[in-house]
Amino acid sequence: MPNDSLTVTDNRTGKQYEVPISDGTVRAIDFRQIRVDDDDFGLMTYDPAFTNTASCRSAITFIDGDKGILEYRGYPIEQVAEHSTYLETAYLLLFGELPTATQLSEWVHNITYHTMVHENTKKFVDGFNYDSHPMGMLVGTVAALSTYYKDGKDVDDPASRELQTWRLIAKMPTIAAYAYRRTRGLPIIYPDNDLSFPANFCSMLWRQVAEKDYKPDPVLERAIDVLFILHADHEQNCSTNAMRAVGSSRPDPFSATAAACAALYGPLHGGANEEVLRMLDHIGDIKNIPDFIKRVKAGEGRLMGFGHRVYKNYDPRAKIIKRTAYEVFDLVGRNPMLDIALELEKIALEDEYFISRKLYPNVDFYSGIIYQALGFPVEMFPVLFAIPRTAGWVAQWREMITDSEQKIARPRQIYSGNRGREYVPVSER
Ligand code: ACO
Repeated sequence: MPNDSLTVTDNRTGKQYEVPISDGTVRAIDFRQIRVDDDDFGLMTYDPAFTNTASCRSAITFIDGDKGILEYRGYPIEQVAEHSTYLETAYLLLFGELPTATQLSEWVHNITYHTMVHENTKKFVDGFNYDSHPMGMLVGTVAALSTYYKDGKDVDDPASRELQTWRLIAKMPTIAAYAYRRTRGLPIIYPDNDLSFPANFCSMLWRQVAEKDYKPDPVLERAIDVLFILHADHEQNCSTNAMRAVGSSRPDPFSATAAACAALYGPLHGGANEEVLRMLDHIGDIKNIPDFIKRVKAGEGRLMGFGHRVYKNYDPRAKIIKRTAYEVFDLVGRNPMLDIALELEKIALEDEYFISRKLYPNVDFYSGIIYQALGFPVEMFPVLFAIPRTAGWVAQWREMITDSEQKIARPRQIYSGNRGREYVPVSER
């Protein structure tokens, strides 16, 4: 009898089964053999919201939520955030290794020369109302890219996957900036290939129409790059799961990325920093914090930016973001929300309710405060998240496409509704 196995006794029948254990997991399909009789479908596992189910093997991002560890391809996030750039990080996530100087310069070149979007995209963005949520514009416009790049459907062709990867990573900031300027009533600014990835993004956002040789402050450029690095991947989160699930039916990656963006839009995921700002605004003053905490503990709302499905310790990204926040404030002036956030964090970290539930600040607690200090309206926050997460989505999508164990994602259900009813005509109801 192998040691790495689970012995299961079905008390309904008295039968025993051996289920192999590998990598600390058992395969749900191994339970199907457990049946009461021949008509029985077999035992299923029930796991709403996938709280204890691994849906894939992945070599991209490692998280130890209890210890607060995050690694990209084995490199601690702290080192990546300190030494790398977003584009180098994207390469690492996608290809598994840090690039050589030649690989990096080719990679940067390929991304840089795909930042332009089709001219019709402008009309597309113009078609949205001026007060549309930019995340809605992003979801719609990314999906529309599939209508321009029909070769995106060739998901089994490595060369096509590579090209769509460049396009997606390169065009997300352009679309995001178009959406931003649309909401401001400003004419769009085309990408500037002489600038770095983050500097070009700043240029497309903030360059004056007649301004020549725009260059953002290096502190700002680096802060945006660090924020992008921190948001680049986070293993099987809600939006990545959407990317993989939608991608599993083999549509082009633009459609799958639109689905991932839509998942990111929600307030429990990428919309959380928007909610943090609304919450801080609602609290308004340090003196109102105790009362606010009391209401959270009474179940009358959540402390947004706190808690995480995986981290049961301080989110390592939150620590780095907090440091970046101070650098940005030195440049643009202190955001008054920071004092409320710091006090809120202090009180929550000492409170038994949060301690016992292992609720710590997550990446969103401070990111919104930085974005607001940079002048972004809260609606742009999830968009700023989607730009760098595209690297992670595409890396995970490519891993899924080439994984021979993967099939179309299709969970089972426990049916709890009626059966075999007779149709009743409307006149008799
Ligand atoms: N404030 C107050 N209580 C909370 C919070 C919070 N932010 N988060 C969880 N709790 C409580 C729950 O009420 C629950 O308490 P109970 O056991 O007494 O019922 C307990 O902690 C466990 O909470 P769950 O909802 O089961 O935890 P889950 O893992 O499902 O949720 C989530 C994780 C969605 C992130 C949650 O903590 C949350 O809503 N946080 C606020 C939103 C947020 O900041 N989201 C960003 C996540 S990071 C990201 O997406 C990039």
